[in-house]
Amino acid sequence: MAAKKIHFIGGGQMAEAIIRANISKGINEAAQFSVADINEERITFLSETYGIEAAFSQEEALATADLIILAIRPQDDLAGVGEAISQYAGSGTAVLSVVAGVTIQTLGGYVGGQERPIIRVIPNTLTDTGLGYSGAALNVYARKEHVDDFLNGFGKVQYLEESLIDIFTGYGVAGPNYVYYFIESLADAGVLAGLPREQAWQVALENVAGAVAMLRHSGLHPRQLLDINNSPGGVGIHAFYELNNSDFAAGLQRSVKAAVKRTTELGQVRS
Ligand SMILES: NC(=O)c1ccc[n+]([C@@H]2O[C@H](COP(=O)([O-])OP(=O)(O)OC[C@H]3O[C@@H](n4cnc5c(N)ncnc54)[C@H](OP(=O)(O)O)[C@@H]3O)[C@@H](O)[C@H]2O)c1
Repeated sequence: MAAKKIHFIGGGQMAEAIIRANISKGINEAAQFSVADINEERITFLSETYGIEAAFSQEEALATADLIILAIRPQDDLAGVGEAISQYAGSGTAVLSVVAGVTIQTLGGYVGGQERPIIRVIPNTLTDTGLGYSGAALNVYARKEHVDDFLNGFGKVQYLEESLIDIFTGYGVAGPNYVYYFIESLADAGVLAGLPREQAWQVALENVAGAVAMLRHSGLHPRQLLDINNSPGGVGIHAFYELNNSDFAAGLQRSVKAAVKRTTELGQVRS
């Protein structure tokens, strides 16, 4: 069953992006959200900007919430927040955490209740577009129905084993960064070859969007489309030869491996 009352603890950048996307996509109404933040200005801002509930006691918000979202930073007072949740929230109330690097086991120690549904999420940051996957790991008491609508309100979701969260972070959630950099480099290549910047930029964007649409539309593997485009001794295969000489694929793959490794290192520092 979809959550009716959703209470955020921490009303910073991530909470705002999630709330904004959920409301604008029509998944949740503003009245379903409440936010607690030690910074009063954030509550006022979120209330005035999005119309979410501002006047409530923490006790009441936790007692009536169907879903509690932990959106504070790893170094913030998780123990204090967990104590309040244990004290006021029903033992079956699901807690969803976007706090980077904090495991379900650690969260369980904070938010109490042996049978509490806990969902650890690495949120997608393409929130306003409705695209991009968040990764969600559930403990044994959590069910997809607790969070599916909510998570699909700011993109899409893939459910996964918690052991894959770091890989999902370095590869998937960091994913737009690789694409942004590719697009920037491609547009620079157009400028280097002599096209005006704006034209090079528009062509790069269109080609990236078009290539994705073509892969989806045709159902073909990239190599099959490359074979169609690369005629013998032609333009495409000459360009491809240089790209291969540049260590392009291995460089990208090393970059993803470095991101995954760093995610794990940061998680170890926090646990
Ligand atoms: N931003 C992203 O792109 C992103 C992506 C993936 C995951 N995350 C995760 O999302 C979480 C939030 O990140 P963020 O970027 O939204 O951080 P943020 O903008 O710093 O927001 C955190 C908010 O929580 C408040 N806060 C701190 N302790 C609190 C407490 N005990 N009770 C209530 N509110 C408290 C902070 O207030 P003060 O500033 O006054 O301390 C701040 O307003 C982090 O754990 C991060 O790892 C973020």
